[in-house]
Amino acid sequence: MRVVIERDAESVSRKAARLIADQVRRKPDCVLGLATGSTPLGTYRELIRLHREEALDFSHATTFNLDEYVGLGPTHPQSYRYFMQSNLFDHINVDASRTYVPDGRALDFEAACRLYEQRIKDAGGIDLQFLGIGADGHIAFNEPGSSLGSRTRLKTLTQETIRDNARFFGGEELVPRLAVTVGVGTILDARRCLLLAVGVGKAAAIRETIEGPVTAQITASALQLHREVIVVVDELAAKDLRRRAYYDEVEQSQQLLERGRLRELGIGTR
Ligand code: F6R
Repeated sequence: MRVVIERDAESVSRKAARLIADQVRRKPDCVLGLATGSTPLGTYRELIRLHREEALDFSHATTFNLDEYVGLGPTHPQSYRYFMQSNLFDHINVDASRTYVPDGRALDFEAACRLYEQRIKDAGGIDLQFLGIGADGHIAFNEPGSSLGSRTRLKTLTQETIRDNARFFGGEELVPRLAVTVGVGTILDARRCLLLAVGVGKAAAIRETIEGPVTAQITASALQLHREVIVVVDELAAKDLRRRAYYDEVEQSQQLLERGRLRELGIGTR
């Protein structure tokens, strides 16, 4: 895991947007896995700015969202389809027919989930999976105890998640109890993962994810098994990391490598 610690939420968003923009520029017909919630908002704002001011072109990209609340249709203001339209899709030039969000109102969920997995495969698999993390360490809605091999399916939300998300609904009793979510296994199939966390409320989950054991109790910890994960966090979310000095050192080397300053790293000096 590459751990990048930024000063604040704003620089986390800028960094994440730059990584996503690089992916889109390098492979215009890339497949992006996208997240909702409060964490990605700054990144989406920055991507919209890059589209408007620097002609970042999404016209050949395909997107798959991680999850959707069961029972909410696309016009419900708290549905994740609505979130994606109003916070990203309506402001960039992505082809609407290639933006996928799980269907929260399917009648046959098993078939709908199978089809979602098939669509990801048919699109060539996810090139870059963008992720937030719950305070309980969940990725997508893979709550503690979810199988680390899981695929897209229905999931019962924990009381903690319902409490955390009540702020968007105006009360805990209004939060749906179930969600349809891609699985941990679906996420691990992505070629690269980008996990973001900001604020002190995520510090414990981030420490467990990066430095704890791989466990279904913290589903984000499964990312330790992935070949290419970048975790971008602010100082507050990084505050409990024990090996922080080392992550900073690795990042300095990474920067020198990217700038081709190889001699400073002792490469080619002997
Ligand atoms: C959303 C998602 C969730 C959130 C997580 C953090 O698509 O998959 O895992 O990323 O609940 O939410 P925020 O960013 O609101 O703290």
